[in-house]
Amino acid sequence: MNIQQQVQLKPFNTLNLDAMASHYVKIHSIESVVDAIHFAQKQQLNILILSGGSNMLLPQHLHALVMHMDIQGIEFLAEDELTKTIKVGAGQVWHDFVLWTTEQQLYGLQNLALIPGLVGASPVQNIGAYGVEVGEFIESVEVYDRHLNQFNSIQAQDCTFAYRHSIFKNDPNRYVICHVVFKLLKNPDLKMNYGDLKTAMADEITAKNLQEQVIRIRQSKLPDPQTFPNVGSFFKNPIISEQDLQQIKLNAPNIPHYPQNDGHVKIAAGWLIDQSGWKGKRLAQVGMFDKQALVLVNYAEATLEDVQATYQAVQRDVFKQFNILLEPEPVLFNESGLIQAHVS
Ligand code: EPU
Repeated sequence: MNIQQQVQLKPFNTLNLDAMASHYVKIHSIESVVDAIHFAQKQQLNILILSGGSNMLLPQHLHALVMHMDIQGIEFLAEDELTKTIKVGAGQVWHDFVLWTTEQQLYGLQNLALIPGLVGASPVQNIGAYGVEVGEFIESVEVYDRHLNQFNSIQAQDCTFAYRHSIFKNDPNRYVICHVVFKLLKNPDLKMNYGDLKTAMADEITAKNLQEQVIRIRQSKLPDPQTFPNVGSFFKNPIISEQDLQQIKLNAPNIPHYPQNDGHVKIAAGWLIDQSGWKGKRLAQVGMFDKQALVLVNYAEATLEDVQATYQAVQRDVFKQFNILLEPEPVLFNESGLIQAHVS
């Protein structure tokens, strides 16, 4: 195990925030998970799990052990008439894995193409796009449980998957995700109901084309983090009551909204931000992207404080106009490496 000191995390977080970690280790195997945890206990350091760095907000100085997950490998576990079960290392790149499933004629994940990050982070916020959430195709998640000090397999039904949510969010310091076990379909069951996906596919109703159209739509709206550092959607789409919706509709009859199963409605945060004048607007070097107002971009050398100044200004303006408090999606860390609540 090679523990390094004073490691710059800027290349490892897609918002490109300057963040110096006091201790850093790359994790290639489940054995090194245990070794790293012991090291942190001995040194009295908190542990920060770093995956693809595409959903985190880091402070400039971090006194913690950063465990950078790099467990590789894809293994077939089982097969029946309709499905194949595969176990995937947490460090596999998510998008490459999705492309690989399509090549293998395994179906379900095509709508989730081009989402940044690594496989191990996918269950944490139950990544979702274009009508599919990853939890639908997860059989179990293999973790190291830091409370019980043992490896464990958590079945999907115990992961409490919901919109941008799972058990891993409730208890963020408990589990180190090592592998994810997926159950994928052998026959395509294409989900094309989202927006203009169906029209975009025209006559070629294949899983490969679905994947290509998802990639095309994402590329046309979402900034490439290499050019415009970002963490994808910066805010969650708020879920409100039907009654509150009716109230908002009095002033904003065209507000995009999506009914949920429990009678609530999901509102498009991008639309709220757009309406409040923030689409393409910047405060110093941080702003909301001009093609998709939901994405916050670091246009220069912003620090966490700059990012906070911008998103809090967005929250204030949206709240003033719609009486809705937007909730940030990325996870905020303090200088001790612990997750903390966002201040509005
Ligand atoms: N809208 C605007 N102005 C904008 C952006 C959006 O008016 O600047 C309106 C659109 O016209 C549309 C609605 O808002 O009516 C929804 O927009 P869109 O279809 O682009 O999707 P979204 O709700 O903004 C969500 C996910 C994305 C995911 C897409 C597609 C969240 C927080 N975001 O975005 O996820 O790719 O749907 O399924 O749920 C991510 O999490 O990083 C991410 C990109």
